[in-house]
Amino acid sequence: MTDPRVNSRISGFYNQNIETRWEKLDEFNLLTPEERNAITGDQGLDTSQADHMIENVIGTLNMPLGLGLNFLVNGRDVLVPMAVEEPSVVAGASFMAKLVRKGGGFWAQTTQPEMIGQMQVLDLESPDQARVKILAERDALLRAVADLDPILRDLGGGPRGLEVRVIEGSPIGDFLVVHLIYDVRDAMGANAVNTACERLAPMIEEISGGRVNLRILSNLADRRVARVQGTVPLEALAFGDFSAEQVRDGIIEAWAFAVADPYRAATHNKGIMNGVDAVVIATGNDWRAIEAGAHAYASRTGRYTSLSTWEEDADGNLVGSLEMPMAVGTVGGATKVHPTARAALKLMQVSSAAELAEVIVSVGLAQNLAALRALATEGIQRGHMNLHARQVAIAAGAKGDKISRLAERLVAENVVRIDRAREILSEWG
Ligand code: MEV
Repeated sequence: MTDPRVNSRISGFYNQNIETRWEKLDEFNLLTPEERNAITGDQGLDTSQADHMIENVIGTLNMPLGLGLNFLVNGRDVLVPMAVEEPSVVAGASFMAKLVRKGGGFWAQTTQPEMIGQMQVLDLESPDQARVKILAERDALLRAVADLDPILRDLGGGPRGLEVRVIEGSPIGDFLVVHLIYDVRDAMGANAVNTACERLAPMIEEISGGRVNLRILSNLADRRVARVQGTVPLEALAFGDFSAEQVRDGIIEAWAFAVADPYRAATHNKGIMNGVDAVVIATGNDWRAIEAGAHAYASRTGRYTSLSTWEEDADGNLVGSLEMPMAVGTVGGATKVHPTARAALKLMQVSSAAELAEVIVSVGLAQNLAALRALATEGIQRGHMNLHARQVAIAAGAKGDKISRLAERLVAENVVRIDRAREILSEWG
């Protein structure tokens, strides 16, 4: 539950320095000093903690952590931590969240947190007969993995179903795939599902007379989906020389392009993932799993297409929606081990994986809107260039207030290139 004291509309945040931003956040009193330090970098993941997370550790990699503002999700204000290296992402999401807020904010929901574990059954004389035998033992199989994880069981998770599919025409001929449907509650779920599949494999072999090869979770988590919808009032769309109708129709035309053309859909969905991944990473979740699930889901009809939809409602307002698999957790893994991820989750004040998923798809939709609005009007380069110029200035070696001065000069010259940045810096001495 979001703290009622939290207000995600913090005006002028963008223009303030980091200290002043924290003064504002400290007013909400959400974090302990240690948690605050875990975000500002003084007490983030240290190398000895990292050494326990993966192999051959030689250090850690820092990334900027920004705050997505203006997010109103299911009627609640949420501060959204976003870890991303690309300029314009945080600003774009925050600005679009402000527009959607004018239409009542984002309305999101999730399905049950059911993951799919797969077992590949080979060497069967008759896959069809084996299928019937396995399904006949469904209840015994589900019972066998019901108590594997007592904590998960006590929280209401566990096995929910069994499906058996005959796969035809593979390079090694026909075989069976058994799907174990497993409710993982607030976990990402890979460990629980993989353990359950490994436990079931010998039983499946005995029942079917076949040999179980792979036993692994599927990242096409199409039973664990998050959906969001948001409306931008027509009048909020106008800017510069562009009328509201022009902007709305341009966005819908841009979306239609992604629906119809996989080349465009890949980029369109990448824009959605700019926002989605930033929150997934900030909260210590597995962004490769989310990416894999997103793109597989976008291809589920047999043709890769847009994950979002944009249309006009009866009053002429712009309505967007997004639906995608969202296998994120709030317990276990890096969400608990990484001090910054833990603090980021606390800052969001989400109490479940479902709530986190609802915020993430809201950010994905906002990010998509930011990209389409820019692309369908002035193009994205204009907004990008100012921030990109800062990165180029830093890469060229600028320090302190020279960063902004150099970035402004590069933009004014319309030559945002590192060679020119170095030249200017050496002129300045
Ligand atoms: C760039 O990171 C993302 C965009 O290309 C997304 C899009 O084209 O919709 C701007």
